[in-house]
Formats: sequence, C-alpha cells, structure tokens
Amino acid sequence: MPKRVLVIHGPNLNLLGRRQPGLYGSKTLEEIDQALKGLAQELGLELQCWQSNSEAQILERIQRADYDVLIINPAAYTHTSVALRDAVEAVGKPTIEVHLSNIYAREEFRHRSLLAPVARGQISGFGPLSYTLALKAAAELAD
Ligand code: DQA
Repeated sequence: MPKRVLVIHGPNLNLLGRRQPGLYGSKTLEEIDQALKGLAQELGLELQCWQSNSEAQILERIQRADYDVLIINPAAYTHTSVALRDAVEAVGKPTIEVHLSNIYAREEFRHRSLLAPVARGQISGFGPLSYTLALKAAAELAD
C-alpha cells in the first residue's frame, strides 16, 4: 500500500500569490499543491492537500488520523496553538512542520513554534521548496 501523506495548510495560506509576495512568493496555493501532486506521483506516495483557516477544523482533520505522515504549515497557529500541538502529540503520526519564510529571521513572536517539540523536524525558509523538501523527507521516513 502506498504511503499516505496529508498536507495541511493553515490560516491565510489560501491567499498565497497575493499575500506579501516579497515574503511568501508569487505562487498560488493551487500551484504549490499541483507541483506536490506531481512529485508525489514520482515518489509513489498517496497525497492529499487541504487548507483551512479554522483551528477547530484543523484539529478535527488531524484527529482523523487517516494518513501515515503529516506535513503541516500551521501558519500563525504555529506560534499560538497548544491545542494543535496536543492533537499532533495525541495522534502520534510522524509530522513535518513547514514554513515558507524563515520564521527565525522575522519578528520575535514568530521565533517560537509550539509544534516543533512534537514534530519529527521542521523546514523553514525555502518558499514553496520547503514543501517539496518535506515531501521528499516524508517518502524517506520509516513506517
Ligand atoms: C508561515 C510563517 C508564520 O509565522 C505566518 O503566520 C504564516 C506563514 C510561513 O509559511 O512562513 O502565516 O507559516
């Protein structure tokens, strides 16, 4: 059975392409997801990409646990959501945290990720390539 990878994009990432392109790049979320789907096919992964602005919906999606690896850009919830961290920890699936921008090179309040301690690792600062690298890492992770 192919490895099932779920990509969750958090709040405001539906605005990519229009949102601060100097910081987040000019690609839309749809373009990023399309590129990931192509790569997933090459890597033999089953991929689902999903975006929500709602913390509650993100928690519910994580709790479904119908994936083998979770790739998540929690966006602003990275820095605020104990509930998100608890959900990832409770479900116990290998989780890769992704950021387009380098959160450590930005405002101080972005330097702290509540999720990082329960993630397998974090990729931050490479624009859409952060997701590509995460998908490659997901393919390599032991089951
Ligand atoms: C982000 C970084 C967060 O600090 C910010 O709130 C976002 C996007 C990133 O991908 O660089 O919305 O997660």
